[in-house]
Amino acid sequence: DADFDCWMRWVTLQPVFRRIFGCSFLPDHDYGKGGKGWRDLWQDLLSLILIEPEHVRASLIENFNGVRIDGTNATIIGSGKGEFIADRNAITRVWMDHGAWPVLTVLLYLDQTGDTDFLFEPAAYFRDAQMSRTRRKDFKGEPAADQCLLTRGGEVYTGTVLEHMLVQTLTQFFNVGEHNLIRLESADWNDGLDMAFDRGESVAFSSFYAANLKRLADWLEYLQKEKGIMSVEVFQELTILLDQPDGVCCDYDDVQEKQRLLFEIYCPAVEPHLSGRKVAVECGLLIQDMRRKAEWIFQKIRSQEKICVSHQGKDYQWFNGYYDNQGRRVEGQGDGSIRMTLTGQVFTVMSGLADEDEIREIIASVDAFLKDAHGGVRLNTDFGLRNYLDLGRAFSFAYGTKENGAVFSHMAVMYACALYMRGFAREGFEVLNALFRMSSDFAVSRMHPNLPEYFDGQGRGMYGYLTGSASWMVLTLLTQAFGVRGEKGDLILDPKLVREQFSPDGSASVKSSFAGRELTVHYQNPKRLDAGVYRVREVKANGPALSFETLDNGALRLSREHLQNILGPLEVTVYLA
Ligand code: G1P
Repeated sequence: DADFDCWMRWVTLQPVFRRIFGCSFLPDHDYGKGGKGWRDLWQDLLSLILIEPEHVRASLIENFNGVRIDGTNATIIGSGKGEFIADRNAITRVWMDHGAWPVLTVLLYLDQTGDTDFLFEPAAYFRDAQMSRTRRKDFKGEPAADQCLLTRGGEVYTGTVLEHMLVQTLTQFFNVGEHNLIRLESADWNDGLDMAFDRGESVAFSSFYAANLKRLADWLEYLQKEKGIMSVEVFQELTILLDQPDGVCCDYDDVQEKQRLLFEIYCPAVEPHLSGRKVAVECGLLIQDMRRKAEWIFQKIRSQEKICVSHQGKDYQWFNGYYDNQGRRVEGQGDGSIRMTLTGQVFTVMSGLADEDEIREIIASVDAFLKDAHGGVRLNTDFGLRNYLDLGRAFSFAYGTKENGAVFSHMAVMYACALYMRGFAREGFEVLNALFRMSSDFAVSRMHPNLPEYFDGQGRGMYGYLTGSASWMVLTLLTQAFGVRGEKGDLILDPKLVREQFSPDGSASVKSSFAGRELTVHYQNPKRLDAGVYRVREVKANGPALSFETLDNGALRLSREHLQNILGPLEVTVYLA
C-alpha cells in the first residue's frame, strides 16, 4: 500500500523528533513542557536500538545512574548527559511501572547485538532526599554533591547494569498492596491513574514485572550455559530479597511479611548508605529464585483476577487490571456499566500469563467493549462517572479524551505487539491497520501524516509527532510483522505478514540494519497466502551463499558470525509457500 509506505516514513522520523524535542508540547500548547521522563527515555531507545545500536550503548549505561537503591528512579533527565532530576515540578512521586521499562529495552539491545558484556558495565545509583519509595525523606543528611549513592566509607558505589535491573525488579515483588499485587503508588504507564497511592494496585504491571523476572532468569541461564558465567556479583544487602538455599526469604502469601522485608529490613539496610561489601551469587540459585517469584505472581493473577461478565446473552472473560484507593476491584460489571481496561489485557497477553484460550476470550471482549466507531481500540470503557477520585484524574476527562477511553496509540500498538508475539498475527494487523486508517483519513483526523498520541471520541488525532507510540509502531512492524529481529545477537527472519500486506504480485520488503550492515529483506509470496498458512521454502542472498538454520517454528536463524563475514549491504530474498 503506497500510502502506508509514505505514512510509515513519517512514523519512522517521529522517534528522532522526540529525541530532539522531548514529549508533546510544541504543536499542542496545552500539554507538557517538552521534558522527557524516565519512561519516555527508555521507550524512545527501542527504535533507536533497531536503527543504530552501536550509538545507544553509552546512553543506555548512563541512564542506569538514575536508579535509586530502593528500586525507584529519578524521573527527569537533566541538561547534561547522565544527569537526573528527581521531578520537574519538585513533587517527588513514584510511578510504579518505571522499573519495568529498562529491562525491556536492555533485553532488546542484548538480542539485537549479543553484547552480553553490557550487563557487567558499572553504573552508580541516584541518591537524593527521597527514600523507601517516598515513605521517608532525608532532608538533613546532605546527599553527595553529584547525587550518587555512597558507601559508609564515603566512596561512590558502583554496581553492574545487571545489578541495577535486579534491584528494580526484585524490590517490586515485595511492594504489594492488600491483594498481594504490586502497588500503583503515584500511577503506572497511565499517568492519569494518580489518586490511589494508599490502596491502589496495578495488576497490569504486576504481570509485566513477572515477565521481567522470567526473562532475566532466561538470560542468566544463557550466561551460565553459553558463557560459563556461574555467579554474579551484587551488593551484599540485595541478598535480603533472595531466597536462601535452606528456605524462602518470607512467606509469599503474606502481604505484611513482604512489606516488612522491603521497608523494615531491606530499605534501612541500604539507606542512606550501603556497606559497600559485594558477594557472589550463584546463577543457579538466582534463576530458581526469580522463576519462583515470577510463577507466584502469574498464579496469583490467574486465580484471583479473572473477570467474568454476561452481556446481552453472551459470556465474556478478561483480566482485571487495577484496584482503586478503596481497595476495590476496578473492572467488571457494576453500577450499570461494564468496566474494562486495555492495559490490563496487554500485559497479561505480552507476558505469557494468558494462555491461548484466554487470549481468544480477551480479543472477543476487546472487540465487544473497546472498539470505537472508527475501528480503533480504546483505552477503557465508559465508566459512566463524572470523576473517580479513588483512581485518578483520567476519569475527570470527558470520555474519549486522553487517558480516559481515547484510542491511545501507544497502548493500542502495544496490544497489537502482544498479539503478534503470541501468534495472533491477523488480530495484531487489524489493530495497527485501524490506527493507520484513522490517521490517514484526513477529513476526520485533521492530522498531517504521523501516528498521533491519541484519537478522540470524534476520531480526531491529537498531539502529533512527539509521542512514544511511534517507537512501538516501528518495533512491532519490523520485529513482529516482518519478523526481522535479533535473538542473542543472531538474525531471525520470522514473517507474520498477512495477505493484504503483500503487493498484487506477492512481494513485501523492508530495509533495516543488523550487525552494522544495511539489510534488505524481500519476502516473495506469489500465492498471497495469509500469515500462519505459508512457510519459508527457500532463501537467496546477493553474492555469498548463506546458511540459515530452520527453527522449530519455521523461522530462520543466521548466525552473527556468518553475517559479519559478509562485506557490504546484505539483500536477502525469502520465498514463502
Ligand atoms: C504520554 C507520555 C507517556 C505516558 C502516556 C500515558 O504518552 O509521554 O509517558 O505513559 O502519555 O499517560 P505519549 O505522548 O508518549 O504517547
